[in-house]
Order: sequence, then structure tokens, then C-alpha cells
Amino acid sequence: MSVDALAELFEGRRIAVLTGAGLSTASGIPDYRGPGTLARARNPIQYREFVDSDATRRRYWARSTVGWQRVAAAAPNLAHRALAALEERGRTTGLITQNVDRLHHRAGSRGVVELHGALEEVVCLSCGALSSRAALQQALVQLNPRFAHRTADFAPDGDAELDDTADFRIPACACGGVLKPHVVFFGESVPRPRVDRAFSLLRQAEGLLVAGTSLAVFSGYRFVREAAAIGLPIGVVNLGPSRGDAHANVRVDGPVQEVLPALVERL
Ligand SMILES: NC(=O)c1ccc[n+]([C@@H]2O[C@H](COP(=O)([O-])OP(=O)(O)OC[C@H]3O[C@@H](n4cnc5c(N)ncnc54)[C@H](O)[C@@H]3O)[C@@H](O)[C@H]2O)c1
Ligand SMILES: [Zn+2]
Repeated sequence: MSVDALAELFEGRRIAVLTGAGLSTASGIPDYRGPGTLARARNPIQYREFVDSDATRRRYWARSTVGWQRVAAAAPNLAHRALAALEERGRTTGLITQNVDRLHHRAGSRGVVELHGALEEVVCLSCGALSSRAALQQALVQLNPRFAHRTADFAPDGDAELDDTADFRIPACACGGVLKPHVVFFGESVPRPRVDRAFSLLRQAEGLLVAGTSLAVFSGYRFVREAAAIGLPIGVVNLGPSRGDAHANVRVDGPVQEVLPALVERL
């Protein structure tokens, strides 16, 4: 269907927005399940394994030291900017994102719920202290100079493919605790207050716009189910199929960096 049908669906309505990795592919950050990514899909890191295994943590932080450079260098694209403009005009109740790259914030969106956290923050598993990933990056590079200028095959989530990581050195928290990126790994659940905030901005909305997500992950899909249950008009913008299609009143199969600016222009 067309952008016009989408604009008509949301005309005069304040809407909630739900986004995923497809928002950021045009910024150079790969997704998990896009048309070009299936071939390279691999097993994402599991929370239990990260906590239990020193070798797993070395592998994670080594890959992330290389992969982070690309996330840190990425800039918001026209899709992020269109959604920020929609908020600026008072047309949204807020934005729920599954992305961990902070690009919505950098485009100027303020009412953002980061369902899965953000790679830009690091949390200590012992004392809970939050710190900045940029600062940790400096420490990681100092301790592991041979990884500083490595380039590797880039994978989603700021990760990269590397093999020789057994001697990688990881700084600890000041309390001695283990540091973890402040993102929700597989096997972890989204903190309840965050889920509640997301539901509340959905319930204040008069429509739901879903963009750039396969909705394969339940933590995002549940908001589409809820929107359908309470009878909100639902529009989906995605390249290829998504699990939300069955609930969509309007579906536009196209790139978000083209469709969202065109939509915002018409609203
Ligand atoms: N940028 C990021 O922060 C990032 C990147 C990869 C994975 N992740 C994490 O992995 C999980 C992935 O789930 P997901 O549903 O967000 O992603 P996904 O990879 O499962 O789905 C992305 C969808 O977007 C579509 N797409 C890709 N580029 C597009 C474009 N330019 N325009 C329109 N559609 C496009 C793909 O075809 C696919 O259907 C998330 O929970 C997230 O935390 C985050
Ligand atoms: Zn600590």
C-alpha cells in the first residue's frame, strides 16, 4: 500500500512509534533478519554464558572493542530525523525502540523508551554502577593495543567476528565487579518499569506506527498485540514481512529512510 494510505490512517491522531534495527541499516549498522543478513546470522550472546564464562566475556569485549568503533561513528539518517520531527510537532506520545545504538536520541527524539538498553552505557553486575562506554573503550584499547586498529567483519549489536581473543584483557569496575554492556541480552528480561513506560505511552496513543522491525522478538511484538487488542489503528513500514503484518491496517513495504520522511510531510 501507499504512503497516502498510511497518512490517512493517522490523520489527526497522536501516535506511538515502535522501531527496530531496520531504522539504522541506512546508517551502516546491520540488522539481524533483513534480506541481506540471513546468510550471516549467527548465535547472539546469551546472558548466562556471559556471566558464567570468563572466556565468553573476553570474546565479547574483544569483538566489541572492534565493533564499537562503527557504532560510535554512525550518524542518524532521514528515518530517525523524520520521527524526531513528528515528535517536535506534538504528533507522538513517544517512541519505543528495540535499538541499542542511541541514534533516535542523536536525531533529537526525547520521549524514547530504549526497551533493550543502550550500548553507550556499561553496568557493573556487582554494584550496579553505570558508566560510559566511550570511557571504557579507551581503557580497553590501552590494555589491548593490538585490537585498536583491527577491522573485522561487522555484525549486529556492535559486535565483530574475531578469533584470537583468549588473552584479551578486560578492566573491572572500581568495586572489582564484572562489567557488562547495559543492554538486554538473550535470556534476560526487559526491566518491568521500562515495559510499563512503553505500555503507558501506547495507551495514551490513538494509533501505532511500526517501522523497521521483523517483530521476531516478543519484547517488541507484545506492543503490537496490545495495540490490536485495544483497537488502535496500526501501520507497518518494513522491507519484507514482519510478524505484525496480520494486525496491520496499512502496510508499506519500503525503506524507512524514504517512507517516513514522505509520511511526516503528509501528516
Ligand atoms: N541498530 C541496533 O541497535 C540493532 C541492530 C541489530 C540488532 N539489534 C537488536 O536485535 C534485535 C533485532 O530485532 P529487530 O526486529 O529490531 O530487527 P530484525 O533484524 O529482526 O528486523 C529488521 C527488519 O527491518 C527490515 N529492514 C532493514 N533495513 C530496512 C530499511 N532501510 N527500511 C525498512 N525496513 C528495513 C528488515 O527487512 C527486517 O525485517 C533487537 O531486539 C535489537 O535489540 C539492534
Ligand atoms: Zn561495581
